[in-house]
Amino acid sequence: MSIISNCTVSAIKDAAAALIKGDLVAFPTETVYGLGADATNKDAIARIYKVKARPVGHPLIVHISSLANLDKWARDIPEYAVNLARTFWPGPMTLILPRTDLAKDFITGGQNNVGIRIPSHTVALALLKEFESLGGLGIAAPSANRFGAVSPTTATAVAIELAEFLSKNDQILDGGPCSIGVESTIINCTQNRPSILRPGEVTKEMIEDTLGITIDLNSSNSEDGQIKAAGLLESHYAPNAKIFLTGSPTIGDGFIALDSFTTPSGAIRVAAPKTNEEFARVLYEAFRLADFKGLRRVFVIPPTGGGIAVAINDRLNKSAFEK
Ligand code: TXA
Ligand code: MG
Repeated sequence: MSIISNCTVSAIKDAAAALIKGDLVAFPTETVYGLGADATNKDAIARIYKVKARPVGHPLIVHISSLANLDKWARDIPEYAVNLARTFWPGPMTLILPRTDLAKDFITGGQNNVGIRIPSHTVALALLKEFESLGGLGIAAPSANRFGAVSPTTATAVAIELAEFLSKNDQILDGGPCSIGVESTIINCTQNRPSILRPGEVTKEMIEDTLGITIDLNSSNSEDGQIKAAGLLESHYAPNAKIFLTGSPTIGDGFIALDSFTTPSGAIRVAAPKTNEEFARVLYEAFRLADFKGLRRVFVIPPTGGGIAVAINDRLNKSAFEK
């Protein structure tokens, strides 16, 4: 695929320049690949919505390279959010904070808050630094998939999802497979206490240990009723195959479970991760493989326990939701 480039220094420079010009650049992060655009460029952001076929009004996460840029986008940042930022950034965590005037309605979906993340992936950080050295202030990047579909965790998956909708000056940076495989933890920091809007690798327990308080998981109904998150829709992250979290596969059905489970006879194993971390890392590629094989049904034995299993189960429940 000619639009995919390796992450050489010159490719990253080209990509940053393309973003400044208003083109789109898909890039790797430690969670999933993002479809990036200059977060201050209304037309470029409009193209993200078009390429993803994402309904308007769903806000985008703004990615920055360091804490020094945080107050360009967010104001009235609570002490606990500063604490979380210092502990988990760069990393797989997005904070929802009150916005500054820089965060326009076309980024926030008209809400008075903005989602911010400092990713830890070397390529993402290099791209952000280069973009900022050219005068850029932040890169808006939703997951690089069509709306409602499975997030891509490889550059090839981005191309399969989006190549036909991208223009000739858009680019896809190939930084290899993502190390985490599920999207960032989203934490609502617009209230007196934080709450988790989307579970991820930064877990409830990790946040509680850091802050010394107990917090809510998945309280999408914030007190002001303002928080909107596409990933909070009941159906999302879904492949074409129908996902079943109970029952047993019959001949020709797909099967995903930890390696310790044997494949039921006649089922087609599309993933056998050895740990919950590996489960997260391979889940979306396993969904893609099932679709590539044309499987109609995939049976999954969900992982148990806390940690990353909470995020995996969140995505599994959404992918299995009857549309
Ligand atoms: O790991 C990730 O977060 C990836 C990588 C590329 O950074 N990005 C990602 O973006 O998953 P997206 O747009 O696919 O999912 C972000 C979710 C959406 O459900 C969106 O509605 C929500 O975050 N979100 C973004 N800004 C928000 C805001 N200001 N208030 C509430 N929800 C917000
Ligand atoms: Mg997404």
